[in-house]
Amino acid sequence: MSFHHRTALDYVEDTSPGTGMLPPRAWYATSDSTSLSLNGSWRFRLSPTADAEDDSFTEEGYDASDWTEVAVPGHWGLQGHGSPIYTNHLYPFPVDPPHVPTENPTGDHLRVFDLPQDWPGLTEGGAVLRFDGVESCARVWLNGTVLGDFKGSRLPHEFAVGHLLKSVGNVLAVRVHQWSAGSYLEDQDQWWLPGIFRDVTLLHRPTGCVLDFFVHASYDHRSGTGTLRVDSDVDGRVTVADLAIDVKTGEAVTVPVEPWSAETPRLYDGVLVTEGERVPLLIGFRTVELSDGLMKVNGTPILLKGVNRHEWHPHKGRALDLATMREDVLLMKRHNINAVRTSHYPPHPAFLDLCDELGLWVVDECDLETHGFTEQGWRDNPVDDDHWTPALLDRAARLVERDKNHPSVIVWSLGNEAGTGRGLTAMAEWIHERDSTRLIHYEGDLNCRDTDLYARMYADHAEVERIGRGLDGGPRRRRRLPFILCEYAHAMGNGPGGLAAYQRLFERYERLQGGFVWEWIDHGIAHPDLGYAYGGDFGEELHDGNFVCDGLLFPDRQPSPGLVEYKKVIEPVSITGDGTSGTVRVSNKYDFVDLSGLAFSWSYRVEGEAVGSGTLSVPPLAPGESADVHLPEPPPGAPAGEAHWTVCAGLADDTRWAPQGHVVAWGQLTVSGRRAPYVATTARPVSGDAVITLGPGTFDAGTGSLRAVGGVAVSDLRLDVWRATTDNDDGAAWQTDLRYGPLWRRLGLHRVQHRLDAVEIGEDALTVRTRVAPAAREVALSTVYRWTSDGDRLRLTVSVTPRGDWRVPLPRLGIRLGLTAADRVQWFGGGPGEAYPDTRMAAVVDRWQSTVDRMQTPYVRPQENGARIDVRWAELGGLRIEGDPAFFLTARRWTTEQLDAAAHRTDLVPGNSVWVNLDHAQHGIGSQSCGPGPLPQYHLRAEPAEFALVFSSTPVTG
Ligand code: GAL
Repeated sequence: MSFHHRTALDYVEDTSPGTGMLPPRAWYATSDSTSLSLNGSWRFRLSPTADAEDDSFTEEGYDASDWTEVAVPGHWGLQGHGSPIYTNHLYPFPVDPPHVPTENPTGDHLRVFDLPQDWPGLTEGGAVLRFDGVESCARVWLNGTVLGDFKGSRLPHEFAVGHLLKSVGNVLAVRVHQWSAGSYLEDQDQWWLPGIFRDVTLLHRPTGCVLDFFVHASYDHRSGTGTLRVDSDVDGRVTVADLAIDVKTGEAVTVPVEPWSAETPRLYDGVLVTEGERVPLLIGFRTVELSDGLMKVNGTPILLKGVNRHEWHPHKGRALDLATMREDVLLMKRHNINAVRTSHYPPHPAFLDLCDELGLWVVDECDLETHGFTEQGWRDNPVDDDHWTPALLDRAARLVERDKNHPSVIVWSLGNEAGTGRGLTAMAEWIHERDSTRLIHYEGDLNCRDTDLYARMYADHAEVERIGRGLDGGPRRRRRLPFILCEYAHAMGNGPGGLAAYQRLFERYERLQGGFVWEWIDHGIAHPDLGYAYGGDFGEELHDGNFVCDGLLFPDRQPSPGLVEYKKVIEPVSITGDGTSGTVRVSNKYDFVDLSGLAFSWSYRVEGEAVGSGTLSVPPLAPGESADVHLPEPPPGAPAGEAHWTVCAGLADDTRWAPQGHVVAWGQLTVSGRRAPYVATTARPVSGDAVITLGPGTFDAGTGSLRAVGGVAVSDLRLDVWRATTDNDDGAAWQTDLRYGPLWRRLGLHRVQHRLDAVEIGEDALTVRTRVAPAAREVALSTVYRWTSDGDRLRLTVSVTPRGDWRVPLPRLGIRLGLTAADRVQWFGGGPGEAYPDTRMAAVVDRWQSTVDRMQTPYVRPQENGARIDVRWAELGGLRIEGDPAFFLTARRWTTEQLDAAAHRTDLVPGNSVWVNLDHAQHGIGSQSCGPGPLPQYHLRAEPAEFALVFSSTPVTG
């Protein structure tokens, strides 16, 4: 008996990168040589273990007619076979590297193909079979001959196959295993989704064709010249018609050029010609360097306004189509984002083509994360074990060789959350040696032993400020390096709060070169019953719930309020002023371009109604310059009332990423403030049988609670301090700071009782005294409702006095009430979207219209949402509400308690009432789901407070 009987499967648990592949090389989408896409429908068979089936399916003539089919590129788990698993950092299998479980879902893929008519003769040159991404390990056969096996899911692998090809009836067989030794290196926070999820292509390789090549295109900002040298494994010529360049490969040439930057993505068309092939080149001239402790491009320090992007599509997972990739880049550009970190693996190569074309700085990250080893104090971490070093070096090489010709890539990242170790150092050394023209990033290298940037994730504002001021200490090498937040502002659920305060630090301290919000898109999976599924929805035994939904985009790519906020916070032009000085201050915050690409306009609005508008001439300020630009006189005859200037900077012309007029930046200047609503105290409360009346108000005689305003029925009006805790309120389990969501719940703020102490009918007021407190606690809010009226309108003054020892802030402070019906909503105040105290930069004061349904923000896991800030007045359901001072308006067809209890949007069922919250204040949002909570100035302290609301009825508008 043999103890080692799985020889044929040894590759699965082998730490080596694989066998049989060609060396890694530059990736290019097109050339004049023929290729054949093997994407499409493949025959498919899923087995529960790696060795459940023999490999006879790889032979010609095998009958697979009883197999099912899957789409390639695709993940079988999203096509009805098996199911996805979500874990953040836990390995969903026992940790015993390099071993994997016996239960190892294995997908056999089969495709029979003929060569197209125009395929050159079988003896003319060779052919290469390329896999752009297979998770996590594959073995490949062509026409019955094994080509090899490989790991490295998001990296390309090529095999020479010319000698095996036939004109017709080629049988390509691929066996894909969900788990392999490679899984230990791919512990990124995302769904585990095996499959052939990127393209499969057969490339004809003519005799004398291009092999690998390296485009070196630097820019000297002092002379305005670019130097081009294309190193090529196969000699040839390089031409760039626009620059009259025609040189041999390996030969350098220097000519005047326009440089490439994310703001000016100037690409020159070139061609690399060898004896057997012509490869089009898109050349961007730019130089990345570290100097004066800063990261500079073309001599200028840059400020990264970035996002972390995972590849995600709610139906297709990481099998993205080109249109979706383009949509991502367009959405980024349209939201003022200028940088992307390809967390946490190299993206589909076409994405980088788009970054080159449209202009984004890229931190290109290797497919490496071993985060799960943190559970065992990083014991046996592959990055510190020489057995794994060849695999790590292979991954580094496949990243760099594939992507080295992209001007957009300015930084290589070794990977994410893999601890520290010799393997990482080896990767960094190899990369530095191979490509000295870019910087190296790796956040886990806290002392910057191997890296060129000091990077951190989720550091709070105070620490970032210390780093900015150079007061953070650390080793000498690190102190001389620029700083980036490779992740910050965790965009999970409602939030992130605190973006503006970070941006102020980035703009203030030059060492701080910006950061990347975590993350771009929610990885929700479209689900027939749940809307979007997250961790646990597929019955996983280990999972991390909705931590996988923490993006600035909802899964369907609709921008969340967080993205709208980010766009405003990072706008490249600042437009400020006090509204009465006659001028507006305009500052250019771009790194490279002047303002000539923007057209400015103004509008003058009184009470949210446009009174005048026009264009504004702003000089073409250079980067860093500011000017006080004259505003016109306020339009003559403008009515009295609260007035604002709104100044917008829009694109002067169409660009490749947005049409003319697209708003890039705006500012709102207050001309005259608001007059608080005044209600004379002339009406008297009248006591009837069961009701008390006061002006338009009808109250319950026993409880003093409001029943109607004019003809509009109102129910359950009372103080409300509870909100459906957000992901950021709840915080992450590992958070050491106070997490208020759980504390609020422990205190019982979600189940406060309202004790009625007195109903007092006075001369000119109805006063209701209550004590609001949770069971089992001695803390309370003494709450007095005082109603007065002028006969038409009802004024409610709410006075709140905390009693007892309050040690937590309040979630919210306001009143809530129920209306029997409401649909259309209009208001004058902040809009159009939701805003909270520390997520309010994008709110424009104006008159807005919406509906109750559209006021809901569709967070994948339901939670508090939808507040409109600084609302002066609002009308809905026949009620008009004016605030003194302005209030937060929230309206929904379910109660806060129902919202709080829901796990998915589909749990929210409209009831018979519309619940309206009119909040005097809200606790800040922060980003404690994986970072700091709200800054202290946004804490809603339990302190004495008084606020008033004025109610009247309006003609019902629907
Ligand atoms: C970071 C990690 C990311 C993600 C994030 C939280 O630690 O690098 O991959 O897990 O936290 O969403």
